[in-house]
Amino acid sequence: MTIIVTGGAGFIGSNFIFHMMKAHPDYRIVCIDKLTYAGNLSTLESVMDDPDFRFVRLDICDREGVDKLFAEEKPDIVVNFAAESHVDRSIEDPGVFLQTNIIGTATLMDACRKYGIKRYHQVSTDEVYGDLPLDRPDLFFTESTPLHTSSPYSSSKAGADLLVLAYHRTYGLPVTISRCSNNYGPYHFPEKLIPLTIINALADKPLPVYGKGENVRDWLYVEDHCKAIDLIIHNGRVGEVYNVGGHNEMRNIDIVKLICKELGKPESLITFVADRKGHDMRYAIDPTKIHSELGWLPETKFADGIVKTVRWYLDNRSWWEPIVSGEYRDYYEKMYGNRK
Ligand code: NAD
Ligand code: TYD
Repeated sequence: MTIIVTGGAGFIGSNFIFHMMKAHPDYRIVCIDKLTYAGNLSTLESVMDDPDFRFVRLDICDREGVDKLFAEEKPDIVVNFAAESHVDRSIEDPGVFLQTNIIGTATLMDACRKYGIKRYHQVSTDEVYGDLPLDRPDLFFTESTPLHTSSPYSSSKAGADLLVLAYHRTYGLPVTISRCSNNYGPYHFPEKLIPLTIINALADKPLPVYGKGENVRDWLYVEDHCKAIDLIIHNGRVGEVYNVGGHNEMRNIDIVKLICKELGKPESLITFVADRKGHDMRYAIDPTKIHSELGWLPETKFADGIVKTVRWYLDNRSWWEPIVSGEYRDYYEKMYGNRK
């Protein structure tokens, strides 16, 4: 079994590669990643020399390159994590989000049609459903909630989801989609709330909280997301969407306070800043379908996952310090220069 994992030098993709190499030691994993600012080749250092692993620096929008790789590798499964993933950046500069998240998805699926594939899996997000009001805790996103996006990021992900479903209906491409809530855990890029808060707190820097910090996210430990995708690509029904979430809703301000407590840092570091434009209030997933069809349940409780995550950042300064200083860009060149 050969699996192409796109975006594997990023946060969730790298965790997925580690999970798959452990859970399915007989599989061949081919990671393709453009190595944008969010991709970090050093994350994959531990698997780089494994004979069952191959890394290829490639843009998923590069039709010729993607075709060539598919011809060489004849993959059975493609799991597409590659994306521009940061909402704030999409507000500043939407163009690259449309390019990678929509055109890149279509390019990959065209190669899947051309070379044949057992499964194309699209890693999507609960943000395609828009947001829920704070005063209706009874409401959750189900797979039939209409798509109703807020940001250029979520709109580009919704556009990709619609294309994936269209390729299934029009061409019979065997697809599945997972729509997951906010992930946290090791290798999370320090521009996102949890790693940014940990790293700033360690340096006694201000902890920026948007608006009043009342926005709610449904946090899931990254390994639980990886296990869900593993189940879906093997046992999920073709043409179906699966919501993935942990029934773990937390307000941003409470997350930031918890991290302060965990690190023994004062809450006075918290700095309320101007709100994000179009800021979604609340995300909350109903994961009934993946539980009843595939038996998936989150295994890591937030109280344990956040302690593990804080500990990981304390123990792995060598991973994030070069990111914060910008040195990790040189690492790409050094590492990649040898592999051309
Ligand atoms: P990330 O930003 O950490 O990683 C994205 C990776 O994709 C990087 O390695 C980057 O180099 C690569 N990439 C970007 N553009 C590319 C291109 N054109 N060609 C090839 N590679 C490219 O993102 P993440 O947080 O790991 O998210 C992975 C996927 O999961 C995304 O599709 C995202 O929408 C989805 N998702 C993320 C979350 C979350 O909480 N982080 C939640 C639900 C869904
Ligand atoms: P983020 O990690 O960017 O994920 P997403 O926007 O995909 O949910 O942000 C999580 C929440 O934290 C979101 O409500 C925005 C907020 N936030 C802050 O308050 N301060 C920050 O510095 C960041 C990056 C995010």
